[in-house]
Amino acid sequence: MKDSLGRTIDYMRISITDRCNLRCRYCMPYGIQASRCQDILRFEEIQEVAACAASLGIRNLKLTGGEPLVRKDCCHLVEMLKAVPGIEKVTMTTNGVLLEQYLEDLVKAGIDGINISLDTLDERIYADLTGSDSCGQVVEALKHAAQVVPSVKVNAVSLDLGRENWIRLVELAEKLPVDIRFIEMMPVGYGKEFDSVDHRDLLEEMKGRYKGMEKDRTRHGPGPAVYYQIPGFSGSIGFISAIHGKFCSSCNRIRLTAKGYLKTCLCYEDGADLRSILRAEPVTAEERQERLREAFREAVWKKPAAHCFEEPEHMTETESMVSIGG
Ligand code: 5AD
Ligand code: SF4
Repeated sequence: MKDSLGRTIDYMRISITDRCNLRCRYCMPYGIQASRCQDILRFEEIQEVAACAASLGIRNLKLTGGEPLVRKDCCHLVEMLKAVPGIEKVTMTTNGVLLEQYLEDLVKAGIDGINISLDTLDERIYADLTGSDSCGQVVEALKHAAQVVPSVKVNAVSLDLGRENWIRLVELAEKLPVDIRFIEMMPVGYGKEFDSVDHRDLLEEMKGRYKGMEKDRTRHGPGPAVYYQIPGFSGSIGFISAIHGKFCSSCNRIRLTAKGYLKTCLCYEDGADLRSILRAEPVTAEERQERLREAFREAVWKKPAAHCFEEPEHMTETESMVSIGG
């Protein structure tokens, strides 16, 4: 699928719940008013949207939340999406707290990759940031996942937690075959209250410490991260620099919220309400697919050119990250 600027859209993030078992300060420190079950798309509805998306050229799906693993039978959904003709990869972003428990089922379901959100390896800082003492548990699950899942990545939001913090994260990639990706904090929801480290500075500091750190031009997945290799390290270091390295001109993605709203950019509320199409008065399956396709095409065509995080007054998105899915 192409948008009006000629960008190929082949990647869809699907938020399957807005609930989460952590309370990250920059995301949902006080919890949220979770949506009612009947307002959230059922698995069959998600599969139907995915089938439509695939018929239009979406190839990769990422399950997000909230925390996707808190949704009952989440592994079964992975299986259902893997079965959709045209879908090549189904991956997941998780905070890792429940990962050990579901790892085997996820692998059986055919998961192609897992991104684990982990901003620090310091248990005290982790507890302060997330309200939970699961740091060690997440690290254990990460090590296990690295052995059994084809692609494992760590996502760390670039909060200013000091030099020691990023060094410990980077050094996870020394022995483990996992990519460590730093994400500039975006001013969405509570994220507005936090300063992000500027990745141009972070990269310079890293290059100073790791001699021979060089750009890695191999492809690591469909996203906007720019990767570097450190000699002797198994995994690479990635930078997702939404603020100081705007990548909107090569954006390939759209997002489906848990309530079935198709979002075309993080920064704006633009998109299409697919749930109302899915739940409209009885029509044939073919008719419904045609209506969904039409809504997809129209929304994608109008996908905004770029985010406007540098001018937050132009943002029209008022939802928090937890309901959008990152
Ligand atoms: N800016 C950048 N990343 C964020 N995340 C949550 N809120 C923000 C924000 N404001 C991250 C989570 C997770 C991913 C889905 O998004 O830490 O890694
Ligand atoms: Fe949960 Fe992720 Fe938000 Fe943390 S950032 S509260 S893990 S959804």
